Amino acid sequence: MDKLIIEGGNRLVGTIEVSGSKNSALPLMAAALLTGGKYTLTNLPKLKDISTFKKVLSHMGCVVENTDGGVIIDASNARMVEAPYDLVKTMRASVLVLGPMVARFKEARVSLPGGCAIGARPINLHLMALEKMGAEVEIQGGYVIVKAKNLKGAKICFDTITVTGTENIMLAAVHADGETIIENAALEPEVTELGYALKKMGADIDGIGTDKITIRGVKELRPIEYKVMPDRIEAGTFMVAAAMTTGNVLIKNCPAEHLDALTDKLKAAGASVKTENGGVRVVGDKPIQSVDIKTYPYPAFPTDMQAQMMAMMSISSGLSVITETIFENRFMHVAELQRMGANITVDGRNAVVKGVRSLSGAPLMATDLRASASLVLAGLVANGITEVSRIYHLDRGYDAIEKKLNAIGANIKRVKDE
Ligand code: EPU
Repeated sequence: MDKLIIEGGNRLVGTIEVSGSKNSALPLMAAALLTGGKYTLTNLPKLKDISTFKKVLSHMGCVVENTDGGVIIDASNARMVEAPYDLVKTMRASVLVLGPMVARFKEARVSLPGGCAIGARPINLHLMALEKMGAEVEIQGGYVIVKAKNLKGAKICFDTITVTGTENIMLAAVHADGETIIENAALEPEVTELGYALKKMGADIDGIGTDKITIRGVKELRPIEYKVMPDRIEAGTFMVAAAMTTGNVLIKNCPAEHLDALTDKLKAAGASVKTENGGVRVVGDKPIQSVDIKTYPYPAFPTDMQAQMMAMMSISSGLSVITETIFENRFMHVAELQRMGANITVDGRNAVVKGVRSLSGAPLMATDLRASASLVLAGLVANGITEVSRIYHLDRGYDAIEKKLNAIGANIKRVKDE
């Protein structure tokens, strides 16, 4: 297991580039199961979650060929086999094979993902929607088994906005008989991107990018070549890093149009955020003001940026209330930030952060992906040395983060944790 050793105190200055989006790449890889032939994705990030998903696809009989910066998936000989616990337990997003598997093989067997560090994360809404489309759902021996001789179009209204739930039903509905209407669909850019990719494959979809998506099933889809969009959460993490370290950073490949809620908060906190020449420049030359944050589905403030923003607020000049409305247990970074001297009190879904003058480096434990990112950010501004262990969480979602940050002035070493 690796750990990161961060020597804090350096300003970040220079240019940094954002990789392809993990949460967009995963449903796009699942879409390969809907067709045969060479299905090509480019701008794929080099991440643990992506290699896990490749394993899931290979296990199902797909030919998966790595290319320079991408992948070619040929699902011509894919077959219905279980997506096993060993793979699913390391990555909940494996559940994205459910929709395309039922669509193509009339049956799917996927190990039920358990809870994870940030919350219970059930998939009841995915299953409810598949049942509405005529599928029979059974849970047996830790597996969810979904069978549907004939998936039928249906009107589905999600009572909670769900990102992978919306994606799974889009992936199922493209081959169903008749029309499926998804209401209260997730608006996240990754969902919209999946809609565009499916359309390019020949799917009949209206309402892409809105909360009402209409899909009329078609018999066949064709393989496509598709470039994965840049990762808005990686970009957002770099924006906060620049602002926190009183830095001056040009973030290239930054999907600024997907980051309005974060940009508003950074500006309110005193940072300058300007689009420039294929990127976004973030300058943090003023004292950090406290701002309140409340997470909501897109386009509001993303839960995936909550931990990073809390790290920033822990050195702000006032009091900030951070409310997490999406996941019930997404404050695991608090205990670690407190070990660095942050003044944070948690009461249910609210965290009250009273800014302190400085943080001090400490040995820390990463608990989940975005929490790990917040600890790295805190380490960048702390006095002395911060050691972040269990960074396999971080490696699930950030492509070479220490190399990218070191190139703009950070001092981070990756070492083996004995
Ligand atoms: N929910 C249910 N039932 C369901 C599905 C969801 O109650 O059947 C609840 C969840 O428990 C949660 C809320 O609905 O309280 C929203 O969950 P959602 O389904 O939207 O989350 P997800 O699809 O499992 C994706 C991202 C997460 C991101 C969330 C929210 C992927 C692969 N994952 O998860 O990304 O936090 O949407 O935006 O797209 C990350 O990248 O670090 C990450 C956790």
